[in-house]
Amino acid sequence: MTIVIDQLDFGVEVEHKKGSVETEENSVVEVEEKELVLDGGFVVPPRNSFVVPETNSFGQTFRDYEAEGERQPGVENFYRINHINQCVDFVKRMREQYGKLNRVEMSIWECCELLNDVVDESDPDLDEPQIEHLLQTAEAVRKDYPSEDWLHLTGLIHDLGKVLLLPSFGDLPQWAVVGDTYPVGCAFDKSIVHHKYFAENPDYKNPAYNTKCGMYSEGCGLNNVLMSWGHDDYMYLVAKENKSTLPSPALFIIRYHSFYALHRAGGYRHLMNEEDVENLKWLQIFNKYDLYSKSKERIDVEKVKPYYLSLIDKYFPAKLKW
Ligand SMILES: [Fe+2]
Ligand SMILES: [Fe+2]
Repeated sequence: MTIVIDQLDFGVEVEHKKGSVETEENSVVEVEEKELVLDGGFVVPPRNSFVVPETNSFGQTFRDYEAEGERQPGVENFYRINHINQCVDFVKRMREQYGKLNRVEMSIWECCELLNDVVDESDPDLDEPQIEHLLQTAEAVRKDYPSEDWLHLTGLIHDLGKVLLLPSFGDLPQWAVVGDTYPVGCAFDKSIVHHKYFAENPDYKNPAYNTKCGMYSEGCGLNNVLMSWGHDDYMYLVAKENKSTLPSPALFIIRYHSFYALHRAGGYRHLMNEEDVENLKWLQIFNKYDLYSKSKERIDVEKVKPYYLSLIDKYFPAKLKW
């Protein structure tokens, strides 16, 4: 079975269309965006499926970090602080501290509601409350993949780790919760947005950490790689430690959905193992919905709530440790 997804530069080419990508100098240039055919036994979305919009709700291209607008200086400054601070020591401390899951006990749906107050400063495409984004993503996936219920639920929960921004979770600053993620402990890939700011990261000049593999080995598997700390890795820990029965690609999507250097730019593939390669196919499918379903279209929360409660019941315990 065959599926067509948006992809920049790996795999088989089928069709070309215009897109934009960041260069090393951090300017956005027009490129030929390729569409990739994957043979992974995936369900083919119907022809009249989810349509990717041209612009975000500010009228700009998606993920355009140079577009001048009211949010641009904030987004660049966000990445400056993020890149200076996300180092091996910091990530180890955060994983230790938050891996204890000793802060709150609540259900998945309670957490969705908790997120209502959060706005993600790193995101140039979105200024809606997070619950809108969660349901927009989940509903868009559901429309195209009606029988993959685990993928609908993944859409709903993928950003729940953003509760780290709230006082009851330690009030972590935005740079330690949101934005693109990337491995620490090896060289920072040039495709990472606003790469120049890594020059001030304590690991940048450390020979143990600044080579292609750094502290890892070729093909070691992403599970053995420390990722910059944020809502992705945190939500992965929550799902895993609370014994979620979601399948492997769901956990992979939750953990790496902000890892654009991998799933968009094709970097860090030398660290992947075979399971990662399979899971990445699903992440690339998911990303289209995560990125492009951000719109002003409102979802009737009460109408869809019973369906998502049934999925939560299927894949999670009633109360989770956070
Ligand atoms: Fe996210
Ligand atoms: Fe998201």
